[in-house]
Amino acid sequence: MDYALDFENLKTKCLEEISKASSLKDLTELKNKYLAKKGEISLMMNHIREVEDKKAFGEMYNACRKSVEEALDIKIKEEENKKLIEDLKKEKIDITLPGNSYQRGSANPFYKIINEIEDIFVGMGYSVETGPEVDYDKYVFELLNIPHDHPARDMQDTLYIDNNLLLRSHTSSVQAHVMEKAKGQPIKIICPGKTYRRDDDDMTHSHQFAQVEGLVIDKNINLGNLKATLELFAKKMFSKDTKVRFRSSFFPFTEPSVEVDISCFNCKGKGCPLCKGSGWIEILGAGMVHPNVLKMSGYDPEVYSGFAFGIGIERVAMLKYGIDDIRRFYQNDLRFIKEFKKVKED
Ligand code: PHE
Repeated sequence: MDYALDFENLKTKCLEEISKASSLKDLTELKNKYLAKKGEISLMMNHIREVEDKKAFGEMYNACRKSVEEALDIKIKEEENKKLIEDLKKEKIDITLPGNSYQRGSANPFYKIINEIEDIFVGMGYSVETGPEVDYDKYVFELLNIPHDHPARDMQDTLYIDNNLLLRSHTSSVQAHVMEKAKGQPIKIICPGKTYRRDDDDMTHSHQFAQVEGLVIDKNINLGNLKATLELFAKKMFSKDTKVRFRSSFFPFTEPSVEVDISCFNCKGKGCPLCKGSGWIEILGAGMVHPNVLKMSGYDPEVYSGFAFGIGIERVAMLKYGIDDIRRFYQNDLRFIKEFKKVKED
């Protein structure tokens, strides 16, 4: 028996149906109808038993099957491409639509000021230190030449954990820690941080506030160096024409001690409400490190000298940005914080 015609007819029928198919679903059905185990082409294999020239039959079978498979593959690809193009058309993204914006926060002005102060001093070669907020009496008072019965303690009455442990009343405590670690070597540091005092909270006072301590110890350090340093700080912080004035004062850990005023940047020294008519604004306490302090921390005051200063961070921020109440820094009122979003770029 010759099956050549049967294969030819079967192939023609298949190819015709394939060319007419217009969806992937139709094509899958055709694949099943002809090529699956019980498909028409596959079933043709049963006739191999009846033929003598099995090789020729096998070749015809394979050729028929191959043409149908190829035709199906090509058509399936075509249909898939068509579908993809349709899908892409449907799913086109409109890139001109405005995006979803998100709310960005901004740093509290308190931290902005700390960053500004740090930048200025790092620019002068200082490194930035940290120290404990809960500290021993020894570091907060004793090593700073404030013995137990010293009246200066009253001015810095603070919160005690026990007789010996307290919340630091100034960042000057970091001076003693840094000197202890430096073991007689020169020092040039600043340390910003929180400080605590028993205080009646009002517009200008808070039981928690912050200072930046500065400490320089080396050979031949003098009051002129201190003045030049603070003048440069004031010029960078407030305005180029800011002047600095020293008034003599008293701190147990510095000798001589000074209160430092800057010329009022608001009225340029003429007198205005900000400087209460005086033309000057007090911003910090400073002085030459007391020989006793140097000695207690292992420095020979005949060889080494140094200066120290303590700047009130909130005070500087209040002056610079015209903030009326110190408590605003801690209340986390977003309306207040948002006001400072752009300050750094100005
Ligand atoms: N610790 C002083 C204060 O809190 C400030 C100060 C620091 C003064 C360093 C002199 C030197 O008032």
